[in-house]
Amino acid sequence: MRIQSKLPSVGTTIFTKMSALANQYDAVNLSQGFPDFEVDSELIELVQSHMRKGNNQYAPMTGAPALRNAIGSKIAKLYNVNLDCDEEIVVTAGATQAIFTAISAFVKKDDEVIVFTPAYDCYDPAIELNGGRTVFVKLKSPDYTIDWMEVKNKVSDKTRMIILNTPHNPTGSVYKESDFTELSEITKGTDIIVLSDEVYEHIIFEENMHQSVLRFSDLFDRSLVVASFGKTFHVTGWKLGYIAGPKSLMTEFTKVHQFNVFCCNHPMQLAIAEYISKEENYERLGGFYEEKRDLFLQAASQSRFSVRPSMGTYFQLLDYSRITDENDVDFAIRLTKEFQLASIPVSVFYNDPEQDKVLRFCFAKKDSTIEKAGEILLKI
Ligand SMILES: Cc1ncc(COP(=O)(O)O)c(C=O)c1O
Repeated sequence: MRIQSKLPSVGTTIFTKMSALANQYDAVNLSQGFPDFEVDSELIELVQSHMRKGNNQYAPMTGAPALRNAIGSKIAKLYNVNLDCDEEIVVTAGATQAIFTAISAFVKKDDEVIVFTPAYDCYDPAIELNGGRTVFVKLKSPDYTIDWMEVKNKVSDKTRMIILNTPHNPTGSVYKESDFTELSEITKGTDIIVLSDEVYEHIIFEENMHQSVLRFSDLFDRSLVVASFGKTFHVTGWKLGYIAGPKSLMTEFTKVHQFNVFCCNHPMQLAIAEYISKEENYERLGGFYEEKRDLFLQAASQSRFSVRPSMGTYFQLLDYSRITDENDVDFAIRLTKEFQLASIPVSVFYNDPEQDKVLRFCFAKKDSTIEKAGEILLKI
């Protein structure tokens, strides 16, 4: 039988490969983006209690009302916009499903979607599967800012969507208010939809403030925002998140969502609804991860690596151009095998083999893991 791949150029992701290599070489694994510490026991107990109470059947299609209401309150408090919790918020199986479903709902054959690189890896395959074409715009290193003039030049009458990500994986850069002003200008009078991936919205450092697309009233009608409880509550394995936006867009989103997944894990939704109502459970996240970033930087700044600023997310980029000329994939593999420290080469987040000699390290780890990684950095 001949199978014609719909994604011929997609293989196993580097995240799976580096984690497997880290296990094989018993390396400190700062590659894949997930915490190695325990989840708050209160959250676990809430899930157990909802399971015992018998909430083990299908949840409502768009999400448990208690959770949608809690999300709506959080959004109103943080971003000063009141959403209709029945029509403008849908609970999803993680941000990944929200992104895939949003792209499937709006991107048709030959539509163009603007994606900034380096980019998280799930956007481009979803665009391709829907017959669209990804138009890549490179962020300007070393600060990874957007060249809005280039975006303007790349917008065409085929542009259906622009995908944003702030705070940004893999670089840790964050968008400023002025970025959204530029975006408003560029999209004014067009049919372009903005898909804003904000899974690290609460992981933001120092004086930076998260600029959600939801804050900008002139972008609201064309925007969808995606969030992840996996990132916010250290439960990446639960695969729960949500998408929010105006009714006009969410109606179309929901049509696809109901056949894509229908509904998501019910007891966990009810547990998160209670847990998220206590603001400190997400407000403390920035400070919590800032301490971890600083712990990692204590060692990194004394090493032969050069530090690129991380203003949000739980990732830190380190430039190794003072150490070797090797390409980043080879160097990341060598670090794992010879020094037992696993990272992710940043070139994999580009559509072309960009060679910036930068590795991404995830510091969502126990302090002892970060200290161990720091000791290794000093030996390289
Ligand atoms: C930028 C970005 N978007 C989306 C996701 C996926 O989130 P989830 O695990 O909720 O599907 C990730 C996970 O690493 C991410 O970094």
